[in-house]
Amino acid sequence: MTLLSKDLLGLNELTTDEIEEILVTTETMKRVLTSGNKKTSHLQGKSVITLFYENSTRTRLSFELASKYMGASSANISTSGSSVNKGESLLDTARTIDMMATDIIIMRHNQSGAPHFIAPFLKASVVNAGDGMNEHPTQALLDMFTLKERFGSLKGLKIAICGDISHSRVARSNSIGLSKMGAEVHLFGPPTMIPMGIEQMGCKVARSLDEAICDADAIMGLRVQLERQSNSLFPSVAEYSKYFSILPELLSKAKSNAIIMHPGPCNHGVELPTILYDSPQSVINEQVTNGVAVRMAILYLLIARRNLQ
Ligand code: CP
Repeated sequence: MTLLSKDLLGLNELTTDEIEEILVTTETMKRVLTSGNKKTSHLQGKSVITLFYENSTRTRLSFELASKYMGASSANISTSGSSVNKGESLLDTARTIDMMATDIIIMRHNQSGAPHFIAPFLKASVVNAGDGMNEHPTQALLDMFTLKERFGSLKGLKIAICGDISHSRVARSNSIGLSKMGAEVHLFGPPTMIPMGIEQMGCKVARSLDEAICDADAIMGLRVQLERQSNSLFPSVAEYSKYFSILPELLSKAKSNAIIMHPGPCNHGVELPTILYDSPQSVINEQVTNGVAVRMAILYLLIARRNLQ
């Protein structure tokens, strides 16, 4: 089976079969990644460009490493140092990259829908590496892979996602993807950070942190995104960490084998304390490794689809 679209724009656009195919392919890629020799020739002769209008460490580097491990030629464009800073439009920038015989463009942009806008104009495949507050599909896929690796299946799992839901593309992609795959997603955060109608994505909104965490298989903290807030949505960081932080004593309410997740970067002591970040239940470092494997799988599947055309 191959992916149905030339682009990977969101979990909203993927079928359950496509998600399953990506997760199964990631298992193979994880074996390659953790073997003595990470080099493959799957992307030999192909080119992958990362086009980032927002900062990133994990997503950008993992796509760059995934491309290199599989033999592609890769390069990065960011706003500073490119003609974006001379005022070149998003579409002109994307078309310019496309005309250099690029196979895959990985794009992060601060505007929701930016990758969906450029994709139809380009021959290259477009991968959404995070668009505004909309989706971060490759993060959700690596989260789903981490959960599947730990629990064997996503079906019937209870996942608590806690924190700044309204600004979180990770919460949106995970709500859509995990619900599609049969998991239950329970969201909790300050009332000012819960968008109206979020339940339409298949998730539930909990009235308290206790309710969200009760019998959960996994608890995911989200970064408070101060850079996306025009007005402060909570009185102070101290109050946020007192009332909304995932504290170690709350874990007794979750299942005994529950795991702690966070997409990173983490504000230590705000979303969760360092003691939980570094605890044996934390899979935050595994998420980083799985991020490379899932991105290897996505690049492999997109190139396989392109080779069929
Ligand atoms: N989780 C995530 O997207 O991290 P980066 O912003 O570092 O890519």
